[in-house]
Amino acid sequence: MRFYLTTAIDYVNSRPHLGTAYEKITADVIARYKRLAGFDTHLLMGNDEHSQNVYKRAVERGMDPLAYCDSMEQEFRSVWKQLDIAFDDFIRTTQPRHKTAVQKLAQNAFAKGDIYEGFYEGWYCVSCEAFKQEKDLVDGKCPLHPTLTPEWLREKNYFFRLSKYRDRLLAHFAEHPEFLEPDVRRNEILKLLESGLEDISVSRAGQLWGIPLPFAPENVIYVWFDALICYAAGVGYGTDEALFKTWWPADLHIVGKDITRFHTVVWPAMLMSAELPLPKQVFGHGWVNFGGQRMSKSLGTSLDPSDVAAKFGPDPLRLYLVKEISYGGDGDFTWERYEERYNVDLANNFGNLVSRVTAMAHQYREGRVAPAGETSARLRELSGEVVRTYRQAMDAFALHEAAASAFRLIDATNLHLAETAPWKLAKDPSAGDRLTQVLFDTAEAIRLAAVLLTPIMPSSCTEIRRRVGDVTALHELRLDRDSVWRNGGVRELVKDAALWPRSEEKRVDEKPIGGAGKPAEAPRVQAGEPAAPGATQAVGAGVTPAEDNRISIDEFMKVELRVAKVLEAEAVPKSKKLVKMKVDVGTEQRTIVAGIAEAYQPEQLVGRTIAVVFNLKPAKLMGIESNGMVLAASVDGGKPILVAFDQEVPPGARVR
Ligand code: MSP
Repeated sequence: MRFYLTTAIDYVNSRPHLGTAYEKITADVIARYKRLAGFDTHLLMGNDEHSQNVYKRAVERGMDPLAYCDSMEQEFRSVWKQLDIAFDDFIRTTQPRHKTAVQKLAQNAFAKGDIYEGFYEGWYCVSCEAFKQEKDLVDGKCPLHPTLTPEWLREKNYFFRLSKYRDRLLAHFAEHPEFLEPDVRRNEILKLLESGLEDISVSRAGQLWGIPLPFAPENVIYVWFDALICYAAGVGYGTDEALFKTWWPADLHIVGKDITRFHTVVWPAMLMSAELPLPKQVFGHGWVNFGGQRMSKSLGTSLDPSDVAAKFGPDPLRLYLVKEISYGGDGDFTWERYEERYNVDLANNFGNLVSRVTAMAHQYREGRVAPAGETSARLRELSGEVVRTYRQAMDAFALHEAAASAFRLIDATNLHLAETAPWKLAKDPSAGDRLTQVLFDTAEAIRLAAVLLTPIMPSSCTEIRRRVGDVTALHELRLDRDSVWRNGGVRELVKDAALWPRSEEKRVDEKPIGGAGKPAEAPRVQAGEPAAPGATQAVGAGVTPAEDNRISIDEFMKVELRVAKVLEAEAVPKSKKLVKMKVDVGTEQRTIVAGIAEAYQPEQLVGRTIAVVFNLKPAKLMGIESNGMVLAASVDGGKPILVAFDQEVPPGARVR
């Protein structure tokens, strides 16, 4: 079982930004998942060096272009290392193996009559490294690079007969609907193919920086025709036929939505011309924006991934990018939201759970636990279901759903602790076995969640497994064996410093919520429970829940309230009270069924900004699955009055 995947290779005229890093992180998550699932996996990444902007940057710095690219390789490798990206090979388009492969493919295409001499006249955007038609420009500028003026080129060029392959490409799309994911990209490309294809220029005249055309060496090969071949060159095309046979065709090319066209039209046509098999799949991911703006060096809206990784380490960043962005769609990064998710998912939730269970195991059982009774059927069954949904999601590249399913197990484990209250069992001499089993079960659930989250947070999850007594080396983990619920053996639990201490930076100036208590001192343990390492003392610790029914800020923070916008609304047939709504909750669109029909007509709801409970388990109402709950006030059981905001707030904003 083999799996060969690649990312786009990056232009090296500047350091990686968070958007280019996003692609590499998600590819690494998929590669790590495939390894976990038992595949012999090969992840290729690399640098695209023959771009004119790269050449210009080297000249600006007074450097030889190759020496400049050498220095950039070190910068890229060091960023990928900081982000814990474990590629198997790194290709550069200036390497001899790449040059050999490019010249071989170009020579073959020429010999076959697929490359011919012609004349090009038209626009060229240097930043896209792409020829542009008049209709692609907005006010005479490339829409992706509005600060630059495209160049008008008049050149004798060599052309590749792309048009010749249009029908075969259309047939390939029809026979292999999985060839390009997600659907939205496939539809775009199908439209393009249906509208017809023109031959493309594959050489640039009068330039020195590039690979010479083997049959006309006074021309260099157009950077895209050169770069795409890296995927074949990286596994030996033209240099190591045995290696090439082992890995080609690639299983997956992961690329951004702006360059899907090159990968699903130009590249397959080049392979058809070379009579080589086509890659099995291309996934065109969306953009990561920064504070709602497209990330771009030239617009000054780019974010250095090293700066982000420096804040909480690489794993929280990897989790944020995977869990908060639906893979295939666009997403956004803001420092505020990043810190919030870090606190909610890691400090308060997963990290706190690990601290509490290991602390209690030490307080009550000297750190050693073995099964002492019936394992929790609820946790065991849920873990089976979570593993199934996780695998399905990962196999379909729904990375965000896979992450969310692992968190379902973490949430259920927190609930199990709250319900079984080991700190109370500890006071009951007849509940000794029960207490041991609760500690064992919660440690097991933590272990399982850590196995599932390993591709996303490799080093933290290895550490978490160590803390709950699982010392299997990361590269030896196998999903089939290690994601099965275990109820046997002795566990040595390790109590250590908090993995993800709560970040309080943004909370310093905040007013106390509701005027009582200090949110900066959010309780991270339950009343009566021993404090875990790194846990802040509970407000009102020592007061038993029976005497005081107030909930802690952490319990409140578990309820994720969000701003949502109503997109569609309709009455539920045969129901007086229910309305079915489609709402935008910032990261996705959801169906919510609410009992507000007696107070609001559907048309009054469309366009309205409301507040919803975002992390509520789905429920079926009149056969319709509702994913969330709308917040409304009711006075003495009267008609509901929707919660509203006194200013514009975007969907997805947190309410607290
Ligand atoms: N060199 C070409 C790719 C050649 S592949 C044979 C290129 N390089 S790039 O440096 O501009 O982009 C590298 C990858 O990062 C591309 O897949 C691109 O779509 C992706 N991204 C660039 N900005 C991005 C975001 N803001 N968000 C997500 N991905 C982004 O294109």
